[in-house]
Amino acid sequence: MKKVAALCGSFRHGSYNQALLDAAIERAPDGLVIEQVDIRGFPFFSQDLEAEPPTAIRAAKASIQTADCVLLVSPEYDYGVPGYLKNAVDWLGRPFGDRTLVGRPMALLGASSGYMGTIRGQLHWRQSWYFFRAPVFSEAELTVSYAADAFDQEGRLVSETYIANLDHYLATLLDWLQRDCSPPR
Ligand SMILES: Cc1cc2nc3c(=O)[nH]c(=O)nc-3n(C[C@H](O)[C@H](O)[C@H](O)COP(=O)(O)O)c2cc1C
Repeated sequence: MKKVAALCGSFRHGSYNQALLDAAIERAPDGLVIEQVDIRGFPFFSQDLEAEPPTAIRAAKASIQTADCVLLVSPEYDYGVPGYLKNAVDWLGRPFGDRTLVGRPMALLGASSGYMGTIRGQLHWRQSWYFFRAPVFSEAELTVSYAADAFDQEGRLVSETYIANLDHYLATLLDWLQRDCSPPR
């Protein structure tokens, strides 16, 4: 069994990214379990606080430390990453030398109301994972564009194209993790 610790980059009521993560949790194939890590209680990061982090940060770190992979399900803000999720990642990587994210494989998903999905934001996340010296999943990529058309009013993924893409993405992610993140044969 491979475990994925997922972080959602939006806590907006009706968030498309949360809806996409919910779909991924529901559609995870046998052998893959996706568990959402709660980051809503994280305060703004300050180095004044990092020596004794709040309970929410310690709980999130403990969950990630038992995971084979971190999954960031992130909106794109201003062609970059949303501060809410960047703040969480900054906490999870500190204090300097903390091993929670170092070397931990990472995968990306995202949904956007626009036509480019979140591909520019995903490239920014890849840059950050370079710092953590960890492999980033690339065998499949998935961004949901024009998200209003892909989800119904209850936040269910209803686009058959994206459902098929998500199933392919998750199966390929599991295969990648089972190969210890090695390149395709
Ligand atoms: C501050 C801000 C910046 C945004 N910048 C982008 C952007 O650069 N690219 C994009 O595709 N959508 C952008 N959007 C639109 C988001 O894709 C849209 O608000 C989306 O619903 C956010 O994800 P959520 O539904 O999970 O909250 C932006 C939205 C906000 C509020």
